[in-house]
Amino acid sequence: MKIFVSCFFIIISIIKTSASYTPVVMYHGMGDTAYGSINSVKTFLESKFPGIYVTSIQMGNNVEEDFLSSYLMNLNEQVEKACTMIKADVRLKNGYHSIGFSQGGQILRAIAQRCPEPPMKNLISLGGQHQGVYGFPKCMGTVKICNYIREMLNFGAYVKYVQDNLVQAEYWHDPLQENLYRDRSIFLADINNVKQPRNESYKINLTRLQNLVLVQFLNDTIVQPKESSWFQFYEPGQATVVYKLRNSTLYQEDWIGLKKLDETKRLKLLGTIGDHLQFHVHGKWFYNEIVEPYLSK
Ligand SMILES: *[C@@H]1O[C@H](CO)[C@@H](O)[C@H](O)[C@H]1NC(C)=O
Ligand SMILES: *[C@@H]1O[C@H](CO)[C@@H](O)[C@H](O)[C@H]1NC(C)=O
Ligand SMILES: *[C@@H]1O[C@H](CO)[C@@H](O)[C@H](O)[C@H]1NC(C)=O
Ligand SMILES: *[C@@H]1O[C@H](CO)[C@@H](O)[C@H](O)[C@H]1NC(C)=O
Repeated sequence: MKIFVSCFFIIISIIKTSASYTPVVMYHGMGDTAYGSINSVKTFLESKFPGIYVTSIQMGNNVEEDFLSSYLMNLNEQVEKACTMIKADVRLKNGYHSIGFSQGGQILRAIAQRCPEPPMKNLISLGGQHQGVYGFPKCMGTVKICNYIREMLNFGAYVKYVQDNLVQAEYWHDPLQENLYRDRSIFLADINNVKQPRNESYKINLTRLQNLVLVQFLNDTIVQPKESSWFQFYEPGQATVVYKLRNSTLYQEDWIGLKKLDETKRLKLLGTIGDHLQFHVHGKWFYNEIVEPYLSK
Protein backbone atom coordinates (compact mmCIF):
# COMPACT_ATOMS: atom_id res chain seq x y z
CA MET A 1 0.00 0.00 0.00
CA LYS A 2 2.77 2.34 1.01
CA ILE A 3 4.66 1.55 -2.21
CA PHE A 4 1.51 2.01 -4.19
CA VAL A 5 0.86 5.42 -2.67
CA SER A 6 4.38 6.69 -3.23
CA CYS A 7 4.33 5.41 -6.82
CA PHE A 8 1.09 7.27 -7.27
CA PHE A 9 2.63 10.51 -5.98
CA ILE A 10 5.72 10.09 -8.12
CA ILE A 11 3.56 9.62 -11.20
CA ILE A 12 1.44 12.64 -10.31
CA SER A 13 4.53 14.77 -9.78
CA ILE A 14 5.99 13.67 -13.13
CA ILE A 15 2.76 14.62 -14.86
CA LYS A 16 2.73 17.93 -13.01
CA THR A 17 6.31 18.91 -13.85
CA SER A 18 6.09 18.02 -17.52
CA ALA A 19 2.84 19.90 -17.81
CA SER A 20 4.18 23.01 -16.10
CA TYR A 21 6.82 23.94 -18.68
CA THR A 22 5.91 25.52 -21.96
CA PRO A 23 7.41 23.57 -24.90
CA VAL A 24 10.24 25.12 -26.88
CA VAL A 25 10.76 25.15 -30.65
CA MET A 26 14.25 25.90 -31.95
CA TYR A 27 15.24 27.02 -35.45
CA HIS A 28 18.83 26.64 -36.57
CA GLY A 29 20.99 29.06 -38.53
CA MET A 30 23.17 28.95 -41.60
CA GLY A 31 25.39 25.89 -41.97
CA ASP A 32 23.82 24.12 -39.02
CA THR A 33 21.15 21.48 -38.58
CA ALA A 34 18.18 20.94 -36.27
CA TYR A 35 20.12 18.74 -33.89
CA GLY A 36 23.61 19.98 -34.75
CA SER A 37 25.51 22.52 -32.64
CA ILE A 38 22.30 23.93 -31.14
CA ASN A 39 21.46 20.59 -29.56
CA SER A 40 23.46 21.66 -26.49
CA VAL A 41 20.67 24.18 -25.78
CA LYS A 42 18.04 21.44 -25.95
CA THR A 43 20.08 19.21 -23.63
CA PHE A 44 20.59 22.09 -21.20
CA LEU A 45 16.90 22.99 -21.06
CA GLU A 46 15.98 19.35 -20.54
CA SER A 47 18.40 19.10 -17.63
CA LYS A 48 17.10 22.30 -15.99
CA PHE A 49 13.42 21.62 -16.57
CA PRO A 50 12.72 17.90 -16.29
CA GLY A 51 9.98 16.81 -18.62
CA ILE A 52 10.08 19.90 -20.84
CA TYR A 53 9.41 19.26 -24.53
CA VAL A 54 12.09 20.82 -26.75
CA THR A 55 11.96 20.28 -30.47
CA SER A 56 13.87 21.71 -33.41
CA ILE A 57 12.69 22.39 -36.95
CA GLN A 58 14.30 20.17 -39.56
CA MET A 59 13.77 21.14 -43.20
CA GLY A 60 13.77 18.29 -45.65
CA ASN A 61 13.92 14.56 -45.12
CA ASN A 62 17.37 14.19 -43.64
CA VAL A 63 20.32 16.01 -42.11
CA GLU A 64 21.89 16.82 -45.51
CA GLU A 65 18.71 18.41 -46.84
CA ASP A 66 18.28 20.31 -43.59
CA PHE A 67 21.85 21.65 -43.84
CA LEU A 68 21.36 22.69 -47.48
CA SER A 69 18.04 24.36 -46.70
CA SER A 70 19.96 26.95 -44.71
CA TYR A 71 21.44 28.20 -48.01
CA LEU A 72 19.32 27.03 -50.87
CA MET A 73 15.63 27.29 -50.30
CA ASN A 74 12.78 29.67 -50.64
CA LEU A 75 12.15 31.08 -47.17
CA ASN A 76 8.45 31.59 -47.80
CA GLU A 77 8.19 27.90 -48.53
CA GLN A 78 10.32 27.17 -45.47
CA VAL A 79 7.96 29.17 -43.24
CA GLU A 80 4.95 27.38 -44.67
CA LYS A 81 6.47 23.95 -44.12
CA ALA A 82 7.55 24.80 -40.58
CA CYS A 83 4.04 26.10 -39.89
CA THR A 84 2.55 22.79 -41.03
CA MET A 85 4.96 20.86 -38.78
CA ILE A 86 4.17 23.04 -35.76
CA LYS A 87 0.42 22.68 -36.29
CA ALA A 88 0.77 18.90 -36.65
CA ASP A 89 2.65 18.50 -33.37
CA VAL A 90 0.02 17.83 -30.70
CA ARG A 91 2.49 18.65 -27.94
CA LEU A 92 2.57 22.26 -29.17
CA LYS A 93 -1.15 22.74 -29.35
CA ASN A 94 -1.36 24.95 -26.24
CA GLY A 95 1.47 27.18 -27.41
CA TYR A 96 5.23 27.28 -27.26
CA HIS A 97 8.28 29.48 -26.80
CA SER A 98 10.79 29.68 -29.59
CA ILE A 99 14.52 30.26 -29.98
CA GLY A 100 15.93 31.32 -33.33
CA PHE A 101 19.65 31.03 -33.92
CA SER A 102 20.93 33.68 -36.33
CA GLN A 103 18.76 33.60 -39.48
CA GLY A 104 16.45 31.21 -37.62
CA GLY A 105 15.41 34.37 -35.72
CA GLN A 106 13.77 36.06 -38.68
CA ILE A 107 12.32 32.77 -39.90
CA LEU A 108 10.60 32.27 -36.53
CA ARG A 109 9.41 35.87 -36.62
CA ALA A 110 7.82 35.17 -40.00
CA ILE A 111 6.13 32.16 -38.40
CA ALA A 112 4.78 34.39 -35.60
CA GLN A 113 3.48 36.85 -38.22
CA ARG A 114 2.00 34.35 -40.66
CA CYS A 115 1.19 31.36 -38.51
CA PRO A 116 0.25 32.52 -35.00
CA GLU A 117 -1.77 29.40 -34.22
CA PRO A 118 -0.87 27.51 -32.03
CA PRO A 119 0.38 30.62 -30.23
CA MET A 120 4.05 31.43 -30.07
CA LYS A 121 4.55 32.93 -26.60
CA ASN A 122 8.09 34.25 -26.21
CA LEU A 123 10.29 34.60 -29.27
CA ILE A 124 13.99 34.72 -28.54
CA SER A 125 16.13 35.79 -31.46
CA LEU A 126 19.86 35.25 -30.96
CA GLY A 127 21.86 37.33 -33.45
CA GLY A 128 19.07 37.51 -36.05
CA GLN A 129 19.14 39.71 -39.15
CA HIS A 130 15.80 41.49 -38.77
CA GLN A 131 16.73 44.32 -41.12
CA GLY A 132 18.80 42.05 -43.30
CA VAL A 133 22.47 42.26 -44.15
CA TYR A 134 24.56 44.28 -46.54
CA GLY A 135 27.81 42.40 -46.78
CA PHE A 136 28.87 38.88 -46.22
CA PRO A 137 32.18 39.19 -44.40
CA LYS A 138 32.29 35.62 -43.15
CA CYS A 139 30.37 32.64 -44.29
CA MET A 140 29.46 29.60 -42.26
CA GLY A 141 29.94 26.66 -44.55
CA THR A 142 32.22 24.84 -46.93
CA VAL A 143 34.40 26.85 -49.35
CA LYS A 144 32.34 25.54 -52.25
CA ILE A 145 29.01 26.67 -50.80
CA CYS A 146 30.40 30.03 -49.69
CA ASN A 147 31.86 30.74 -53.13
CA TYR A 148 28.58 29.84 -54.73
CA ILE A 149 26.65 32.20 -52.43
CA ARG A 150 29.05 35.08 -53.15
CA GLU A 151 28.77 34.47 -56.89
CA MET A 152 24.99 34.52 -56.71
CA LEU A 153 24.91 37.70 -54.60
CA ASN A 154 27.35 39.38 -56.99
CA PHE A 155 25.31 38.24 -59.95
CA GLY A 156 22.34 40.02 -58.42
CA ALA A 157 20.68 39.52 -55.07
CA TYR A 158 17.40 40.92 -56.41
CA VAL A 159 17.27 38.81 -59.56
CA LYS A 160 14.13 36.70 -59.35
CA TYR A 161 15.88 33.35 -59.69
CA VAL A 162 18.32 34.27 -56.91
CA GLN A 163 15.52 35.54 -54.64
CA ASP A 164 13.52 32.40 -55.15
CA ASN A 165 16.37 30.08 -54.24
CA LEU A 166 19.08 31.67 -52.13
CA VAL A 167 18.27 32.17 -48.46
CA GLN A 168 20.92 34.86 -47.94
CA ALA A 169 19.55 36.88 -50.88
CA GLU A 170 16.09 36.74 -49.35
CA TYR A 171 17.33 38.89 -46.47
CA TRP A 172 19.81 40.91 -48.50
CA HIS A 173 19.18 44.61 -47.85
CA ASP A 174 20.98 47.08 -50.08
CA PRO A 175 20.77 50.57 -48.49
CA LEU A 176 21.96 52.13 -51.76
CA GLN A 177 18.97 50.62 -53.55
CA GLU A 178 16.13 50.79 -51.06
CA ASN A 179 13.52 50.88 -53.83
CA LEU A 180 14.88 47.73 -55.41
CA TYR A 181 14.90 46.04 -52.01
CA ARG A 182 11.33 47.11 -51.33
CA ASP A 183 10.08 45.91 -54.71
CA ARG A 184 12.07 42.72 -55.19
CA SER A 185 12.85 41.22 -51.78
CA ILE A 186 10.44 38.30 -51.58
CA PHE A 187 10.94 37.61 -47.89
CA LEU A 188 12.41 40.32 -45.66
CA ALA A 189 10.70 43.31 -47.26
CA ASP A 190 7.46 41.37 -47.00
CA ILE A 191 7.65 40.38 -43.33
CA ASN A 192 8.88 43.88 -42.46
CA ASN A 193 5.79 45.23 -44.18
CA VAL A 194 7.84 47.67 -46.26
CA LYS A 195 5.48 47.62 -49.25
CA GLN A 196 2.25 49.55 -49.45
CA PRO A 197 -0.51 48.98 -48.63
CA ARG A 198 0.79 47.63 -45.34
CA ASN A 199 -0.75 44.43 -44.19
CA GLU A 200 -2.31 45.24 -40.81
CA SER A 201 -2.57 41.55 -40.10
CA TYR A 202 1.21 41.27 -39.60
CA LYS A 203 0.98 43.71 -36.70
CA ILE A 204 -1.99 41.95 -35.16
CA ASN A 205 -0.21 38.62 -35.37
CA LEU A 206 3.20 39.72 -34.08
CA THR A 207 1.72 41.58 -31.13
CA ARG A 208 0.16 38.34 -29.95
CA LEU A 209 3.62 37.43 -28.64
CA GLN A 210 4.12 37.73 -24.91
CA ASN A 211 7.67 38.96 -25.46
CA LEU A 212 9.90 39.60 -28.44
CA VAL A 213 13.45 39.21 -27.16
CA LEU A 214 16.13 40.43 -29.56
CA VAL A 215 19.72 39.65 -28.69
CA GLN A 216 22.52 41.54 -30.39
CA PHE A 217 26.05 40.19 -30.10
CA LEU A 218 27.95 43.40 -29.45
CA ASN A 219 31.14 42.14 -31.13
CA ASP A 220 29.41 40.38 -34.02
CA THR A 221 31.71 40.16 -37.05
CA ILE A 222 29.29 38.12 -39.15
CA VAL A 223 26.06 40.10 -39.18
CA GLN A 224 26.64 43.31 -41.13
CA PRO A 225 25.58 45.60 -39.57
CA LYS A 226 25.35 43.83 -36.21
CA GLU A 227 22.58 46.25 -35.13
CA SER A 228 20.30 44.44 -37.60
CA SER A 229 19.68 42.05 -34.72
CA TRP A 230 17.70 44.94 -33.16
CA PHE A 231 16.00 46.01 -36.40
CA GLN A 232 18.50 48.84 -36.83
CA PHE A 233 20.10 49.43 -40.21
CA TYR A 234 22.08 51.81 -42.39
CA GLU A 235 20.40 55.13 -43.15
CA PRO A 236 19.33 54.93 -46.82
CA GLY A 237 21.91 55.94 -49.41
CA GLN A 238 25.06 54.93 -47.53
CA ALA A 239 26.51 52.08 -45.53
CA THR A 240 28.17 53.64 -42.48
CA VAL A 241 25.65 55.39 -40.26
CA VAL A 242 23.19 53.12 -38.51
CA TYR A 243 19.88 54.52 -37.29
CA LYS A 244 18.21 53.69 -34.00
CA LEU A 245 15.15 51.47 -33.95
CA ARG A 246 12.91 53.94 -32.12
CA ASN A 247 13.82 56.57 -34.70
CA SER A 248 12.84 54.48 -37.69
CA THR A 249 9.66 54.71 -39.77
CA LEU A 250 9.10 50.98 -39.27
CA TYR A 251 8.83 51.70 -35.55
CA GLN A 252 7.15 55.10 -35.59
CA GLU A 253 4.44 54.13 -38.07
CA ASP A 254 4.39 50.74 -36.39
CA TRP A 255 4.22 48.59 -39.52
CA ILE A 256 4.61 45.31 -37.67
CA GLY A 257 3.81 46.14 -34.04
CA LEU A 258 7.26 46.80 -32.56
CA LYS A 259 6.13 50.10 -31.06
CA LYS A 260 3.10 48.49 -29.53
CA LEU A 261 5.24 45.68 -28.08
CA ASP A 262 7.68 48.29 -26.77
CA GLU A 263 5.00 50.46 -25.16
CA THR A 264 3.62 47.44 -23.38
CA LYS A 265 7.15 46.47 -22.20
CA ARG A 266 7.23 43.31 -24.32
CA LEU A 267 10.04 44.29 -26.67
CA LYS A 268 13.39 43.40 -25.10
CA LEU A 269 16.58 44.60 -26.70
CA LEU A 270 19.43 42.71 -25.10
CA GLY A 271 23.11 43.08 -25.86
CA THR A 272 25.84 40.70 -24.90
CA ILE A 273 29.58 40.86 -25.29
CA GLY A 274 30.98 38.43 -27.81
CA ASP A 275 31.05 37.51 -31.47
CA HIS A 276 28.15 35.98 -33.39
CA LEU A 277 26.33 33.35 -31.29
CA GLN A 278 29.24 33.25 -28.85
CA PHE A 279 27.66 32.60 -25.47
CA HIS A 280 28.02 29.85 -22.93
CA VAL A 281 25.00 27.61 -22.81
CA HIS A 282 25.93 26.77 -19.20
CA GLY A 283 26.94 30.33 -18.35
CA LYS A 284 25.27 32.96 -16.16
CA TRP A 285 24.21 35.29 -18.96
CA PHE A 286 22.18 32.68 -20.84
CA TYR A 287 20.50 31.43 -17.70
CA ASN A 288 19.81 34.77 -16.01
CA GLU A 289 18.85 36.83 -19.06
CA ILE A 290 17.17 34.27 -21.29
CA VAL A 291 16.31 30.92 -19.74
CA GLU A 292 14.97 32.00 -16.36
CA PRO A 293 12.89 35.01 -17.52
CA TYR A 294 11.54 33.62 -20.81
CA LEU A 295 11.69 29.83 -20.85
CA SER A 296 11.01 28.70 -17.30
CA LYS A 297 7.23 29.13 -17.37
C1 LIG B 1 -2.13 36.32 -39.45
O1 LIG B 1 -2.64 35.19 -38.80
C2 LIG B 1 -3.84 34.67 -39.34
C3 LIG B 1 -4.27 33.48 -38.48
O2 LIG B 1 -4.65 33.94 -37.22
C4 LIG B 1 -3.61 34.25 -40.76
O3 LIG B 1 -4.82 33.77 -41.33
C5 LIG B 1 -3.11 35.44 -41.56
O4 LIG B 1 -2.84 35.06 -42.87
C6 LIG B 1 -1.86 36.00 -40.91
N1 LIG B 1 -1.44 37.20 -41.61
C7 LIG B 1 -0.51 37.23 -42.56
C8 LIG B 1 -0.24 38.53 -43.19
O5 LIG B 1 0.09 36.24 -42.91
C1 LIG C 1 -2.53 40.40 -45.85
O1 LIG C 1 -2.04 39.09 -45.88
C2 LIG C 1 -3.04 38.10 -45.93
C3 LIG C 1 -2.37 36.75 -45.82
O2 LIG C 1 -1.37 36.60 -46.77
C4 LIG C 1 -3.82 38.26 -47.23
O3 LIG C 1 -4.86 37.33 -47.26
C5 LIG C 1 -4.38 39.66 -47.32
O4 LIG C 1 -4.99 39.85 -48.56
C6 LIG C 1 -3.28 40.68 -47.14
N1 LIG C 1 -3.85 42.03 -47.09
C7 LIG C 1 -3.31 43.05 -47.77
C8 LIG C 1 -3.95 44.37 -47.54
O5 LIG C 1 -2.36 42.91 -48.53
C1 LIG D 1 33.00 44.19 -27.60
O1 LIG D 1 32.00 45.19 -27.63
C2 LIG D 1 31.98 46.00 -26.46
C3 LIG D 1 30.73 46.88 -26.54
O2 LIG D 1 30.69 47.58 -27.73
C4 LIG D 1 33.26 46.77 -26.36
O3 LIG D 1 33.25 47.58 -25.20
C5 LIG D 1 34.43 45.79 -26.31
O4 LIG D 1 35.64 46.50 -26.35
C6 LIG D 1 34.37 44.82 -27.48
N1 LIG D 1 35.36 43.79 -27.29
C7 LIG D 1 36.22 43.43 -28.25
C8 LIG D 1 37.16 42.33 -27.91
O5 LIG D 1 36.24 43.97 -29.34
C1 LIG E 1 16.22 60.65 -35.82
O1 LIG E 1 15.67 60.99 -37.06
C2 LIG E 1 15.72 62.35 -37.38
C3 LIG E 1 14.93 62.59 -38.63
O2 LIG E 1 15.08 61.58 -39.56
C4 LIG E 1 17.18 62.77 -37.50
O3 LIG E 1 17.27 64.14 -37.80
C5 LIG E 1 17.87 62.47 -36.19
O4 LIG E 1 19.22 62.75 -36.33
C6 LIG E 1 17.70 61.03 -35.79
N1 LIG E 1 18.23 60.83 -34.47
C7 LIG E 1 18.95 59.77 -34.15
C8 LIG E 1 19.39 59.70 -32.73
O5 LIG E 1 19.24 58.89 -34.95
